Amino acid sequence: MNKIVIKGSVPLEGIINIDGAKNSIVALIPASILSKSIVRIYNYPKISDVYVLIDILQELSVSTKITNEYIEINSSNIKNTPLTTTKMGSLRASYYFMGALLGLFKNTTLRLPGGCYLGPRPIDLHLKGFETLNCRYDINNELIYLQADKLIGKEIHFPFPSVGATINTMLAAVLAEGETTIYNAAKEPEIVDVANFLTQMGAKISGAGTSIIKIIGVKELHGTDYVVIPDRIEAGTYLILGALLGNPLEIHRVNYLHLYAILTTLNKCGVKTYINDDKIIVYNSNKLLPTDIVTDVYPGFPTDLQQIITTLLTQSHGISTVTETIYSDRFQNCQELIKMGANIVINDNKVIIKGRTPLKGSEVVAKDLRGGASLAIAGLIAEGTTIINEAQHILRGYSNIIEKLQNVKANIHMST
Ligand code: UD1
Repeated sequence: MNKIVIKGSVPLEGIINIDGAKNSIVALIPASILSKSIVRIYNYPKISDVYVLIDILQELSVSTKITNEYIEINSSNIKNTPLTTTKMGSLRASYYFMGALLGLFKNTTLRLPGGCYLGPRPIDLHLKGFETLNCRYDINNELIYLQADKLIGKEIHFPFPSVGATINTMLAAVLAEGETTIYNAAKEPEIVDVANFLTQMGAKISGAGTSIIKIIGVKELHGTDYVVIPDRIEAGTYLILGALLGNPLEIHRVNYLHLYAILTTLNKCGVKTYINDDKIIVYNSNKLLPTDIVTDVYPGFPTDLQQIITTLLTQSHGISTVTETIYSDRFQNCQELIKMGANIVINDNKVIIKGRTPLKGSEVVAKDLRGGASLAIAGLIAEGTTIINEAQHILRGYSNIIEKLQNVKANIHMST
């Protein structure tokens, strides 16, 4: 399949522009069907997950237009077609069609979601949200059947915050009768983005970004033009790269308020960053310090940057640890980093990294999206040539990654 080939150890300089957030757009596209008039989404990332979601819209007879600037979605002829093709299983975020179709039609049949393997990824909290709103469900043969005579707003108490379940419950609740309150809601910026989008379409939502979100059901939603927030994980990835190779690197079009955890971590590692409005300049550090990282829900250190910072910590002088608290099996990249010369020991949900070890170019496999990105960063700092197999995982989440890196002088290309 797709391979990325990198000749490493080249200092990088110039500007990388950050695109719209993957974890927003993958919810905004399904959310768009809640409006029967035209929705335009600007600043969308050019990633394969987006194109799969657009294909899924076409199965629902929703018409779409994609330009370089925006995606236009017109659901005026939408049909409640069962979404049973394998496309649904190719990404995690296809689960947002559950909430959106349930909200719109009160019943739907879909294939269960897929996405990166990071350990078991249940959807029980999504179903708990729907059930509380008066929906019945059945799961059979990889298909899920959702059915409600009418959706009725209620109080929903989640045992812990889940990004997906919070957004899915909002999607189902915006057109429900009465008032829904989500307790222990997730607080990620992408949740605020989805709530802002729905609000611009006429929904009544308050509290997004806090642990309590209130939704007052409305009869219908209208069209809107919307600009997606910058991708904090893409920005974090390039900040980490800049800390290793920036001569300097300038990361533009960011919202630094969303980057607190990664900026403070880089600072602890001795990395110099300069923030100027929506731009951050990052210089490589010739003596990276070790640190201990524990992933957490927002505003804590994001699990989506855990694998990528591990690559940086292989270059820190001393012993670092990374503890993963969100997923049970998110260290698949470490075996590949070890092949490249890293000294990493995996101990349950914690990795211990002894640095600094020079990395050497090798043939490795991207097993998941962020793990793949961690290998790309490793390839860029390694001596010699690195070949990353199964690179399609990386393209699921990084907009124009090859062009962006070539623009800052990286020696990188795709190959078959
Ligand atoms: C979203 C992001 C993903 C990110 C994660 C945590 C999208 C498309 N993906 O994933 O990039 O890594 O947030 O920031 O936005 N859980 C349950 N039952 C459920 C739902 C979740 O047990 O019904 C568990 C999960 O297994 C995990 C934890 O809750 O251990 C958090 O998951 P959640 O916040 O729901 O992540 P996702 O929405 O899957």
